[in-house]
Amino acid sequence: MVDDQVSEFRVSTAAYRGEAMFEKELENIFYRTWIYLAHESEIANPGDFKSTQIGTRPVIVSRGRDGQIHAVLNACTHRGATICREEKGTTRAFVCPYHGWSFRPSGELIGIPDEARYPGGFNKADKNLKPLARVASYGGLIFGSFNADVEDLETFLGGAKQHIDIWLQRTAGSSYRVTTSHKYGYDGNWKFQSENVYDGYHPGFVHRSAFATVRKFEGSFENRELNAAVRQQGFTRGYPEGHGTLEAGAPLESGGIDPAIREAYEAKLKELYGEQGAAETLTNRQFLIFPNLVIFDFNIRVVQPITHDKTEVYSYPLMITGAHDDINSNRMLDAQTRVGTAGILSADDIDVFAGGQNALRAGGFDWITLSRGLDKEEVKACGERVGVYSDEVPQRAFWRKWKSLLSN
Ligand code: FES
Ligand SMILES: [Fe+2]
Repeated sequence: MVDDQVSEFRVSTAAYRGEAMFEKELENIFYRTWIYLAHESEIANPGDFKSTQIGTRPVIVSRGRDGQIHAVLNACTHRGATICREEKGTTRAFVCPYHGWSFRPSGELIGIPDEARYPGGFNKADKNLKPLARVASYGGLIFGSFNADVEDLETFLGGAKQHIDIWLQRTAGSSYRVTTSHKYGYDGNWKFQSENVYDGYHPGFVHRSAFATVRKFEGSFENRELNAAVRQQGFTRGYPEGHGTLEAGAPLESGGIDPAIREAYEAKLKELYGEQGAAETLTNRQFLIFPNLVIFDFNIRVVQPITHDKTEVYSYPLMITGAHDDINSNRMLDAQTRVGTAGILSADDIDVFAGGQNALRAGGFDWITLSRGLDKEEVKACGERVGVYSDEVPQRAFWRKWKSLLSN
């Protein structure tokens, strides 16, 4: 399905369609590796919880009374009802809506109504909500895994770790706070969205009208986006762990911040990370942590597969704790206007995904090609591959990892 030759890198169209293919991806990718669950700021205090999914399995991630992070299946151990129907909140206990069994946020079974009717010797100890095999976090990003033997999180993150570190530097020594998510869905395979995140080839075409509209009304957007139809400056990177980046090589922020506030923020970055470190921090980058977490400068995006041809996308704007209001409102504006539900970019992209799904579902052609820059990328000793902005380097990293997980 992934044909990695010297002069061409092809992927079978069958990789995007069918329930059987999707089930295989759930087993071999989503239930085997690390998957992002939440940002630590979403469950900052004891009793805080968030409900989410790994693959199609519903998961509750919470902070227990002990301050520890827990992740459990959102399925009652009595007869399987959904325990938590809220997206997020704070609670002392989850009470099952069906027959009233109650559980601590950590998943521990507290009470069974009219427990006396259960037989003597009935095993309550194994009726806690089922915990995930592993939970770990890095840089405020909480991941979970159903696989007890999964590699440690930092090994999994591999080459993406350095990009998380630079992304954290944008807080200028503070931390991120995630806000309520924007949501949208599309009738297409989840991989279309994952592959699109670091696609520097498409903006000058798909988003051309959006950029032209913005330019017409706001001169300040002039140098934010692409001037050439196909951009050569900047970088794409791919890592053996499946992660990849798109880096513009320059900042891409919109205007609107009081220059004095902006200067103070940049001065703080220079003080903390030096001239070059500050410049590197402010460089626009977006990257995918394989398979479905996207980190932008201004928000976190989660690509949530629903079925083989249905996907939901969650975009969480990221505020900087303690930063000046102007900085945060500008960040919010960027997250909303670019990649939020009503942003100028997302609508264009998901229309393309839906069209692609229609064509791939209908069949009649067997391969798509991801060969851009294949013989021009730099391959480093550590396995990192580097291309220009419009190359398909990160997509190939994604598919190589996909192939290795589905092959064994
Ligand atoms: S299914 Fe939850 S209490 Fe019965
Ligand atoms: Fe796009």
